[in-house]
Amino acid sequence: MTRFEPNLRIPGPTSLPPSVREAGGRQMINHRGPEFAAMLGRIRAGMQPYFGTDSDIAIVSSAGTGGLEAAVVNVLSPGDRVLAVSIGAFGDRFARIAETYGANVDHVSAEWGWAADPAELQERLSVADYRAVLLTHNETSTGVMNPIPALAAAIRATAPDALVLVDSVSGLGAVPFEMDAWGCDLVVTGSQKAWMAAPGLAMIAASERGWAAMETARMPRFYFDLRKHRESGKSGETPWTPAVGVVFQVDEGLRLMAAEGATAIFARHEACAVATQAGLEALGFQLFADPDHRSRTVTAALIPDGLDWKAFNAEVKRRGVVLAGGQGKLAGKIFRVGHLGSVIVDEILGTMATLEEVMAATGRPVEIGAGVAAAQRAAIASIKGGGSPA
Ligand SMILES: Cc1ncc(COP(=O)(O)O)c(C=O)c1O
Repeated sequence: MTRFEPNLRIPGPTSLPPSVREAGGRQMINHRGPEFAAMLGRIRAGMQPYFGTDSDIAIVSSAGTGGLEAAVVNVLSPGDRVLAVSIGAFGDRFARIAETYGANVDHVSAEWGWAADPAELQERLSVADYRAVLLTHNETSTGVMNPIPALAAAIRATAPDALVLVDSVSGLGAVPFEMDAWGCDLVVTGSQKAWMAAPGLAMIAASERGWAAMETARMPRFYFDLRKHRESGKSGETPWTPAVGVVFQVDEGLRLMAAEGATAIFARHEACAVATQAGLEALGFQLFADPDHRSRTVTAALIPDGLDWKAFNAEVKRRGVVLAGGQGKLAGKIFRVGHLGSVIVDEILGTMATLEEVMAATGRPVEIGAGVAAAQRAAIASIKGGGSPA
């Protein structure tokens, strides 16, 4: 049986709630008029608590990668020494962007599946002067969520002047984040992740120190010059024509998020994460990520020996569940289940039921109902326990 609407279990773009879809189909408005200005103001104010900042947020029309590029080119100069902390494919990308623009990049890389180690950061930071440290909050390629408070504290303690740049493209909005309190300088997120909108907008918040660094940074920038965004933002505009349809969607997504409340959103993401983890384990899949740092937005599992993933996944897809494969060196080794944005526990239970059905249909050992039951028990326990700090 195929579903009319797929159960889109990739880690973004995420399924859009009906009202967000409708918002994207609205007639265009003047992006230099009062209606747009009010909307931009609502979005910036609505996002500040999720970033955990009182500072200005730039709304840039681009993919998340553009947001990362904006973070790099706005605060760094060619030749600046940068410590790139990578725990997977997106950490590597962040480092490459800095290298592309001429930063002098040193690498700290964790084995894929593991989080970064604050002690290792401190050690590296104590032997050289770094202008900036690049961190990934949620490494979507491995399903690992880095402990940003501990990492930022380690940086602050050892290299108080280093700027802390954080890729939270697939984390922000789904889990608590406190950029001001933790001492992060630039934080980047993307509309197609927890924000329940289509791809097309990157949101970048900068601390006062981050904004000040933009005045002296010398990497080339024009479209991504965040000073222009800040200046235009004062009159409720963006410097260039924005992706108005996506702005409508993010505005509607934030309205839905305000109605649900941040605490409930974080609890829902935790319930979906633990349900996915428990369900997959009950079905015999081995989870890929370090158990102490599993992501709340995406779960990675190893493809078992002897499982023809392509054929198996084709059967899963035929039943309407869309999973993500592995990226980079993990291609063919892991698969990933996304659980962010509008996701609800029922969609995770449906995913487990489909996996069970396909396992039975393809002759793999499976106890029908085991994955669904384990997922449901985990979700209920998480909700009853009131969730735990991210
Ligand atoms: C952690 C992380 N960083 C950066 C990106 C890049 O975002 P985009 O594909 O919108 O350029 C992604 C996208 O999945 C991501 O998950």
